[in-house]
Amino acid sequence: MNTTEQTKWYLISETHLFPEREGKRVHFKDYDIAVFNLGNGRFRAIDNTCPHKQGPLADGIVAGENVFCPLHALKIDLGSGCAVEANGKVRSYPVQVYNAKVYVAFDEGE
Ligand code: FES
Repeated sequence: MNTTEQTKWYLISETHLFPEREGKRVHFKDYDIAVFNLGNGRFRAIDNTCPHKQGPLADGIVAGENVFCPLHALKIDLGSGCAVEANGKVRSYPVQVYNAKVYVAFDEGE
């Protein structure tokens, strides 16, 4: 994912508050995102709302680099936000971990 001049990084939380291989819903400004701790300092962030029928993706099952929606099991790539072997996409956000804190980038130009 590319960042632009209008992209700003925001501290979301501390890493220890995200259980490994699970998602957690985060509200920040007007954003409702799902942040996933994939282990070994790897985090991903996508919009929390499933493109199928608005299932809460933060409550989904993590498998590899994907999450399965808890309602009807749509498989979504956590890097791109794209549905796997199906139509649909959610927005994905850049994530950085620094000093045991999780930062997510949002585009201020939107
Ligand atoms: S609401 Fe997510 S798969 Fe149906």
